[in-house]
Amino acid sequence: MPYDLLRLEVSEGVATVTINRPDKLNALNNVLMGDLDRAFEEVEAAAEIRGLILTGAGEKAFVAGADIRELASLTPAEAERMALRGQGVFRRLETMGKPSIAAVNGFALGGGLELAMACALRVASENAKFGQPEIKLGIIPGYGGSQRLPRLVGRGRALEMLLTGAQIDAAEAHRIGLVNHVVPQQELGGFCRGLMSRILENAPLAAGLILNAVDAGLSGGLEEGLRFEAACFALSAATEDKAEGTAAFVEKRKPVFRGR
Ligand code: COA
Repeated sequence: MPYDLLRLEVSEGVATVTINRPDKLNALNNVLMGDLDRAFEEVEAAAEIRGLILTGAGEKAFVAGADIRELASLTPAEAERMALRGQGVFRRLETMGKPSIAAVNGFALGGGLELAMACALRVASENAKFGQPEIKLGIIPGYGGSQRLPRLVGRGRALEMLLTGAQIDAAEAHRIGLVNHVVPQQELGGFCRGLMSRILENAPLAAGLILNAVDAGLSGGLEEGLRFEAACFALSAATEDKAEGTAAFVEKRKPVFRGR
């Protein structure tokens, strides 16, 4: 499928989506949001794609936010439509049932941080910078920042970032749990591919169920989450991969999972 402002490459079951607007620090304009929507749909639908790595073109930015030139002329009604659409695109990524890693190779500001937070995991290069600077523009985050940031790093730390609009560096992002790992920039791609292959060695249906169960608990509450977990556990017990995984343990060999 052709895309205007991103590249989608598939290798060994892993899709890499590279946001490709480096002259504008990969800022998310209307065209890019359409591209991302279609790319996530493609990744979700393709059985041969088992995981997604998302990154930005160039050495400076993952995504430096929503396109401020487009924001400037929005009416309130257009702003609401834009937020709902973007939230829907990021929610598709979050709920597609396949593991995703944001390879944050530079600035992840505003919508860029919101996009990274919709991924299952985040790995930063040492030069990465994170922030929700919307308040400095007189607006608030519209692609989920006020919701996912406190869920990831806690209310106090999230509110400090949201209310000051200040940037934090990769080491601080790691310290507060916003990113899973920090690596030198030239090692970022290889590290993310390695992390993804460790995930993909495991049973794919179980991976999807884990993603769904965590999401159900975080979007609902503990009781609902526990109920959903039990249903997912039952479903995992019905898979061929469960028979293979448990048999391989008993027979002291490596399991061969088939995603069935
Ligand atoms: N929207 C639109 N264009 C953006 C952008 C954004 N969010 N972020 C960067 N760009 C553009 C710049 O306008 C510039 O374009 P130009 O060369 O046509 O003038 C280009 O990307 C390079 O950015 P520049 O500001 O020159 O780079 P810098 O290294 O001096 O600064 C940042 C980097 C990230 C600190 C700065 O670009 C910035 O503050 N961006 C906006 C961040 C933001 O507020 N995001 C949240 C939006 S809701």
